[in-house]
Amino acid sequence: MRRPSHRNAVLIGIGAYVPPTRISNADLIAGGLDTSDEWIRARTGIATRHIVQPGVATSDLAVEAAWRALESAGTGEVDAVVLATTTPDRPCPATAPDVAARLGLHEVPAFDIAAVCSGFLYGLATAAGLIASHAADRVLLVTADAFSTLINPADRSTAVIFGDGAGAVVLRAGHVDEPGAIGPMVLHSDGAHSDLIEVPAGGARQRVSGTEPRAEDFFFRMQGRETYRHAVTRMTEASAQAARLAGWSMTDIDRFAVHQANARILNSLATRLEFPPDRCLSNIEHVGNTGAASLALLLAQSADSGLLTAGHKVLLTAFGGGLTWGATTLIWPDLPAH
Ligand code: UT7
Repeated sequence: MRRPSHRNAVLIGIGAYVPPTRISNADLIAGGLDTSDEWIRARTGIATRHIVQPGVATSDLAVEAAWRALESAGTGEVDAVVLATTTPDRPCPATAPDVAARLGLHEVPAFDIAAVCSGFLYGLATAAGLIASHAADRVLLVTADAFSTLINPADRSTAVIFGDGAGAVVLRAGHVDEPGAIGPMVLHSDGAHSDLIEVPAGGARQRVSGTEPRAEDFFFRMQGRETYRHAVTRMTEASAQAARLAGWSMTDIDRFAVHQANARILNSLATRLEFPPDRCLSNIEHVGNTGAASLALLLAQSADSGLLTAGHKVLLTAFGGGLTWGATTLIWPDLPAH
């Protein structure tokens, strides 16, 4: 029997999780970091972030968010698990099969995606591809990062920004016109700037270089100002492109979900796109930059607080290491509160 050639991915469930330990700006200063509450709030918009305790890894966050997403979708059954993360539990194997097994999803295909803070959008595109190709009818996409395990606690340019967390969505095969259908996807990368966000050691390059890595090379590092410049330009372009492909003007859009990297970046995007700032979703004040988890965590928390409701036209955009970036659209579906 000949099958229809295209099936859309439709979002039917969402869940999120942040570890219970919350670190305020004052806690960072009390721990000896050379910074101030005023600087952090003014330059980033962040007041607190959550971090994992020793012994807790990315898969633990991922499983918590996944349970909540499956419950929201009203199912325990999916045909594939995709995990987007920058902080896998181990360099090998991927963390997704472990997450799938702990969810009781034995023998489903499960793999990781490394797109740093663009992980949710790259993950959505991957899940949509699995569905379109009939490899899966339902996909669990989990995004989880435990950046605190990579951050140099003495590096004030990253220690104040990053937090740990996870978000997950369930997608099923459906029709392009349904609420929850993932819209046209815009994805890009530019590896010429891969050094702007990196963990230099721990991979094959360092092993073949013949020199011992320095201890600090195992930490995450970011060239903040240059990254900021790219983030604003790239997300502005991608957002405009995704809205255009969806046939939406900026005034059609009810909610703008931007990767929560820095509150000033959100404001710049809103200004450049002439988008009303009060329609921009934001949770950065309370969770900081949670990497790959950022967008799903933002959507889940916004839906929980009632800021994002069924029927809202949502524009999503993200930017991260790689460099990678992208944007897409969806009409928010009617999901049970969790
Ligand atoms: O998620 C993936 C994508 N990530 C991003 O898009 C993040 C983009 N970048 C940023 O959000 C910002 O660049 C940062 C928040 C990382 C840094 O803010 P900035 O305003 O760009 O600061 P800067 O790096 O240009 O540094 C300005 C000054 C420097 O001092 P001098 O050289 O002017 O004396 C820094 O040493 O601010 C200093 N500084 C700090 N001061 C107090 C940097 N970090 C801190 C700090 N507290 N935490």
